[in-house]
Amino acid sequence: MLLLSLVLAALLSFSMGALPHEDFLQCLSLRSNDSSTISSVIYTRNNPSYSTVLESTIRNLRFNSTNTPKPLVIVTPSRTSHFQATIYCSRKHGLQIRTRSGGHDYEGLSYVAKVPFVVVDLVNFRSVDVDVENRVAWVQAGAILGEVYYRIAEKSRTLSFAGGVFYSIGVGGYISGGGFGLLFRKYGTGGDNVIDAQFIDVNGRILDRKSMGEDLFWAIRGGGGGSFGIVLAWKLKLVPVPATVTVFSVSRTLEQNATQLILRWQEIAHQLPDEMNPDVSMFSVNSTQDGRKTILASFSSLFLGTIDDLLPIMQQRFPELGLSRQDCYEMSWIESILYFNQLQNQPLEILLNRTFRNPLGGQYYKIKSDYVKEPISETALNGLFSRLSDEEASSAIIIFMAYGGIMDRIPEEATPFPHRAGNLYKIYYNVNWQEQDNVNSQKYIDWSRRVYNYMTPYVSKSPREAYANYRDLDLGSNNVGITSYTQASVWGRKYFKNNFDRLVQVKTKIDPENFFKHEQSIPPLH
Ligand code: FDA
Repeated sequence: MLLLSLVLAALLSFSMGALPHEDFLQCLSLRSNDSSTISSVIYTRNNPSYSTVLESTIRNLRFNSTNTPKPLVIVTPSRTSHFQATIYCSRKHGLQIRTRSGGHDYEGLSYVAKVPFVVVDLVNFRSVDVDVENRVAWVQAGAILGEVYYRIAEKSRTLSFAGGVFYSIGVGGYISGGGFGLLFRKYGTGGDNVIDAQFIDVNGRILDRKSMGEDLFWAIRGGGGGSFGIVLAWKLKLVPVPATVTVFSVSRTLEQNATQLILRWQEIAHQLPDEMNPDVSMFSVNSTQDGRKTILASFSSLFLGTIDDLLPIMQQRFPELGLSRQDCYEMSWIESILYFNQLQNQPLEILLNRTFRNPLGGQYYKIKSDYVKEPISETALNGLFSRLSDEEASSAIIIFMAYGGIMDRIPEEATPFPHRAGNLYKIYYNVNWQEQDNVNSQKYIDWSRRVYNYMTPYVSKSPREAYANYRDLDLGSNNVGITSYTQASVWGRKYFKNNFDRLVQVKTKIDPENFFKHEQSIPPLH
C-alpha cells in the first residue's frame, strides 16, 4: 500500500501545479482497480518517455511539429479496466479522448486535437490468437496488419486475412474505416470479414456482437474510427489463399504507349478475375532518352495462382500490356506482402516491426481519393499527366485501383463502406515531400487541391464519393465544440452515401452526448 501511494504521489508530482489533468490523474488512480499497473501506463508531459511514446506512431510527420497540439496525457492500457478508468475520468474532467491503434490516420486525428485531450494508445493491446481449425483469429485492435499476417502464416501458409497492403497499419483504424487490400476483389473489405468484436462504450461497458446488437456491430465495421467508442478486439474470418501466388509489375512511359494502355486498362481491369487486384501507379520521371520529364505508368497485380494460370488470362484479356513470364514472380502469400512493401529478401520477422517505412516516398504527405464510374477520356488523362509533371508533383503518385469482383456483388448497405457495384476503380492521390521542404508544405497541399478540382468532371458525382480511411479534412469537418448533422452530411455522404443516416442513428443511441468525437466523427441527432 505504501509503495502504491509512493508511485501515485510520484506520478502526480510529475504533473505541473494545478493543471486540469491533475484531477484527471487522481481520478485514474482512484478509479482503477489496480492502481499500481495503471501508473505504469500513464505518460504526462513531464515523463521522460512522453515524446517517444507519442512519436512512436506519428506516421505523417506533417503532424509532428512544435506547433502541433499535443495530448495532456497518453495512456497505453494493458487491461480493460484501464480503458474503463480513462473513459470515466476523461468524461468527468472534460477531456476528449483520441484513440490510436496504428497511427496511420492521414490527418493525424488519432493523436491531434484542438481541445485538451488524452491519447489512448493500444500499443499494449495487440495479441493475435489464430485458430486454424475454425479459420478464425481474435486480434486485439492495437496489432498491426504485419503481426496478423505473420501470426497466421506461422500456423498456415494457405490462410490469411483480407487486410491492407501496408503492414504497419493498425487493425483498429483499418477495419473501423472499411479496409481494402490485396484480397478485396476476392473476399471483400476487412469489415466484411469480421464476425465478432470486443468493444467498450462511453459508459465503460464491455460489449461483444451479441450484447452490442447488430446495428452497432454494423456501424463499427466501416463507419470510421473514433465515433462510437473503442474497439478492443476483432474476431476475423480467415480466408483461403493458394500455396503459390504470382505478382507482376510492368512499367511503360508515355513514349512507350502508356496512355493507350491506361485507357485500355480502364475498360477491362474491373472485369479481370476476382483473384487479381490490378492497379496502375503513375508518377513523373526523367525520360532516359533526352532527360526531359515523362510519366511512368506501372501496371501491377497479385494473382492467386501460378504464372502458368495467369499468362493465358492476361494474353486473352489484356494482350496490349505484353505481360511475359519474366515480369512475373511466384511466391507464397506472406512473401507477397513483403514484395508489395518493397521488403523483398527481408526476413518475415520484419512484419512484426512497428517502425514505419513509407514505400511511397516522403513521410510528410496529403492524400485524396475519388471513385470513377465511367472511363475517363484521353484528353482528361493528358491533363492529369500535365499536372503530374508540375514541379510540386516531383514525388507525387496517383494510383488507379480496380474495383469489380466481389465488390460488385456485396450490397452497398452490408456494412457502412458503400463503394460497391458500379465503380470501375478508385483513385488515390498522394503528394509527399521531405523534411527540409516542410516549410513549403502549403504549396504541395495546394497542388493536390488543384488536381482534385481538375478531376471533378471525370469522377463520381452527387455525392462525389471518397474513401473514409483516406481521411481528407478538405471535404469538411465538425466544429470543435458542436457537431451538426447538416454540416457532417457534407463529408458523411461522400464517405458513406445513404449509410450515413443509419450511422447517425447508431451514434444517437450509443453515445447521445457525443463524447467520442473528432473533426469527422458521426454526429448524434439532438
Ligand atoms: P489510427 O490509429 O491513426 O486510427 C485511425 C482512426 O481510427 C482515428 O480516427 C482513430 O481515433 C480511430 N481508431 C483507431 N483505433 C481505434 C479503435 N481501436 N477503436 C475505435 N477507433 C479507433 N487503407 C486501406 O484500406 N488499405 C491500404 O492498403 C492502406 N494503405 C495505407 C498506407 C499508408 C502508408 C497509410 C498511412 C495509410 C493507409 N491506409 C490504407 C489507410 C488506413 O487504413 C487508415 O489510415 C486507417 O484508419 C489506419 O488505421 P490505424 O489504426 O493505423 O490508424
